[in-house]
Amino acid sequence: MTGDNVISAVAAPNRAPGPAWWQKGVIYQIYPRSFQDTGGDGTGDLKGITKRLEYLQWLGVDAIWVSPVYPSPMTDFGYDISDYTDIDPLFGGLADMDALIAAAHARGLKLILDYVPNHTSDQHPWFVESRKSRMSPKRDWYIWHDPAAGGGAPNNWLGNFGGSAWTLDEASGSYYYHSFLPTQPDLNWRNPQVRAAMFNVLKFWLERGVDGFRVDVMWMMIKDDQFRDNPRDPNYVPGGSSHDRLIPLYTADRPEVQGIVAEMRAVLNEFAERVLIGELYLPVDRLVAYYGADGSGAQLPFNFQLLTMQGWDAQTIAQIIINYERALPPGGWPNWVLGNHDRPRIASRIGPAQARIAAMLLLTLRGTPTIYMGDELGMVNTVIPQADIRDPAELREPGKNLGRDPERTPFLWQPGPGAGFTTGRPWLPFGNDTPMSMQRDDPHSMLNLYRQMLALRRRYPALALGAVEAVGVSGSVLSFLRWDGGAALQILVNTADQDCAASTQAGQILLAANSARNGAVSGGLTLTANEGLVVLIDEVAD
Ligand code: NOJ
Repeated sequence: MTGDNVISAVAAPNRAPGPAWWQKGVIYQIYPRSFQDTGGDGTGDLKGITKRLEYLQWLGVDAIWVSPVYPSPMTDFGYDISDYTDIDPLFGGLADMDALIAAAHARGLKLILDYVPNHTSDQHPWFVESRKSRMSPKRDWYIWHDPAAGGGAPNNWLGNFGGSAWTLDEASGSYYYHSFLPTQPDLNWRNPQVRAAMFNVLKFWLERGVDGFRVDVMWMMIKDDQFRDNPRDPNYVPGGSSHDRLIPLYTADRPEVQGIVAEMRAVLNEFAERVLIGELYLPVDRLVAYYGADGSGAQLPFNFQLLTMQGWDAQTIAQIIINYERALPPGGWPNWVLGNHDRPRIASRIGPAQARIAAMLLLTLRGTPTIYMGDELGMVNTVIPQADIRDPAELREPGKNLGRDPERTPFLWQPGPGAGFTTGRPWLPFGNDTPMSMQRDDPHSMLNLYRQMLALRRRYPALALGAVEAVGVSGSVLSFLRWDGGAALQILVNTADQDCAASTQAGQILLAANSARNGAVSGGLTLTANEGLVVLIDEVAD
């Protein structure tokens, strides 16, 4: 682009011996409770996922990540696990998981499981044993501490879902630590037996054929061994989540965590082509540490910048792209995430028109994209009546923006009662979005935009694997180039609801979002409000 406000960033194309599937491919997150019910109980299950693999293949994604399906009392909807090596009857059984893995592989789809190493359920036999007495052989598997000198919790550490992170076990007079709910005690990863047991969990699933793991709260796994108080956050806005009153200096992103991540990765390295993904809400300079020394850490430390950014404008997005590309370590492969089961829907955050622009960005920026199920339908946050609220975070601290039910409502497969999701009563109410079957038949739907973008990525490997260059801003238009030896493409997106002039190289429009523009472009053009374009450049300059 031309103009004073041009920013330039160059990143080398991938020069690895050959790109891995998790570099080329697109990941699709399934929140299993809400994807497809086959049992009529109003909750999705594994057979339902298997049934819908055909849809995922039609859509054009490459891998699915399934949020936890292990036995669980469900106080945090599966993120409180009572057995790491089985399946909760709500979702099916091990045979259903084996069938899902086989069916996914038969369609060329990879399967990624959620791995929740930071905490178990308080019903896990390990914790049941640990809390039996101070002398229990598993006492040290969890984080126990005596009360403070004057009584009460050992220090000021706070739980992410409100209140103290310490709960008193009356019987032994000791406190146990939980980053989340009191029903989710944190494992003590300083204990070598815990490490060994949890690595065996990884091996159990790797041997069953899973292709990788998304590691829950990877950055929280180690806590300060001196139990120092966390400092106050001077930027805390009263009325926000109580957890935000303190900076989690001593409870998250501790240096020792890198060693654990490297050990996890070493377990995966014993198997071919497996991927380690980290859930990490951290600033970029800290995030990139999780690639590990010489790439010994996570291959995909989740990059949530598009999901957490304040506002939505070309300049900020350009800066995010450039800073991220610059911060990546040598060989570190980028990735982008637009939504997940913990954050408000993208279409609610930035509006339906810009959600299409965001989709175009997600699928054209350099790095592995992760799509959250339902975002391809443009689903918005569902308003949840008070009586239907299920999320423990919302129930514990109502109105503090913690509630996650609105982005977890069931997938809408077709119009009519049950929405093709269930024959029963859905565990959360349905939203009012346009169902998949109607969007499939509408060439201008969000669903078909996603599908066309995914097809373009296959047709032009430059979009999946090529370099990114010339990140530029002109008014509200963000543009950048993607190229490899075979093709160069320019992506131009108007991040505002008004027309904006931009310059482009001569080329052919391959795809437009929010407009019917097609044909050739050269030199300047005015992007209409919310318009996005993918242009195949005619001549690639040397
Ligand atoms: C992050 C998960 O994504 C979230 O859903 C869960 O509540 C917490 N970790 C605790 O496991």
